[in-house]
Formats: sequence, structure tokens, C-alpha cells
Amino acid sequence: MTEISTSILNMVKGKETETIFALEQAKTDYFHIDVMDGKFVKKDTYNYMIKTASYIKRISSMPIDVHLMVEDVKKGIEDFLSIDPNIITFHLEACKDEEEVFKFINLIKQNNSRVGIAIKPETNIEEIYKYLPYIHMCLVMTVEPGKGGQTLISEMINKISTLKEYVEKNNLDIDIEVDGGINLKTCEKVKMAGANILVSGTAILMASNYKNIIDELKK
Ligand code: DX5
Ligand code: ZN
Repeated sequence: MTEISTSILNMVKGKETETIFALEQAKTDYFHIDVMDGKFVKKDTYNYMIKTASYIKRISSMPIDVHLMVEDVKKGIEDFLSIDPNIITFHLEACKDEEEVFKFINLIKQNNSRVGIAIKPETNIEEIYKYLPYIHMCLVMTVEPGKGGQTLISEMINKISTLKEYVEKNNLDIDIEVDGGINLKTCEKVKMAGANILVSGTAILMASNYKNIIDELKK
């Protein structure tokens, strides 16, 4: 089954409450929280996302999917654990070595959240394999992290297929999430390749009817 995680990165300021309610009514499966620190990526959304994610938690019961695009992963995990997310995903590229990756995996699990690891477009998929038995989700970035509204990099389709084959061959129980440039034109390809959680921001927030677009993306 395909699930949809709506990225609220480009949600219209001042219209947060009505947008959140409408997305909940339209049955988004998660709210995707893009946390940027101005260092791992240029943009800085850190404080806005803490505030907005806490607000969503207060007014909605939908699960929160935190995507940390930060250099200081430990601080990001600790700050966002306070909003009781369903899942926290950090970038493999932000970790200094294998030991640190396992330290972050355990820190998240010990605090009753699920764990995801994200990889940027230029990172080889093989680099994630050794962590897969210990995490709940792999996030394959289909654009360069940093901003919404970009075009999906088509080479990422093969990367998703390769990961899916590996997951099946090794009988792993793991979600494959894709993020960046997901819309009605690209969703079919990523689903065929093996993704089961689709992050979408622009395509959903720009649509005139959230329910229709979410249903279409899920089909
Ligand atoms: C990019 C973010 C995404 C992105 C998704 O760094 O991780 O979540 O904003 O937005 P769209 O759907 O606009 O590509
Ligand atoms: Zn994201």
C-alpha cells in the first residue's frame, strides 16, 4: 500500500491552521517536516519547523515524519523528539562514521520513535545496506535536498529499484520513502520501482483539491 507524507515546507504562512485541517481531512498519512539548519543545506527552517510541528501535534493526531537536513544530528534528534514524532530520519552524509550512525539509530529508538536514514542523490545505495536491518525506513532523495519545487532526477528510479531488489532478496521489513519532485507525472515510476511512502509538497499544496490529488498519488 502506498502512503503519502505531505511536506509542509511551502505551506502558505498565515494559513497554517486551515491547511493542516484540510490535509487531515484529505487523509494525508503523515505530515513531513523538513528541518534545515542553514549549514547542511543553505536554507534555515529550524525554528519555524519546531514551532509548526509542535502546533500540528497539538491540533492534529496525524503522525509526524521528521526529515533532518542538519549537520548537528544529535541536537536535531533531541530537539525533535520533544514533539513525539512517528519517525525521525537523518542523513547518512551528516554522520562521521559507522559508530555514530548506530549511536543515532539507538538514540531515536530508545525514545520510542521509528528511525529512518536518508541519502542524497550522489550517495551510492550500497552505503545504506549494513544499516537496513536496524532501521524502519530508507529515504531516497529524488532531488538535491534544500528546497521544494524541483524536478525529480530520473537516474534515481534505478537506485530505488536496486534498493527494492536488495530488500526483497534479504527479506527485510523496511519502508522505502522518496522525496522531491513527486507529482502525478512521476509517482507511477517511483511506485513501480518500489517506493511505498511518497513525500509530496508542491504538487499537493498547489492542487485545488487535496483529497483528489492525495487519492491519485496513492493509486
Ligand atoms: C527537499 C525536501 C522536500 C521537498 C518536497 O529538500 O526534503 O521534502 O520540499 O517538496 P516538493 O514536492 O516540492 O519537491
Ligand atoms: Zn523532505
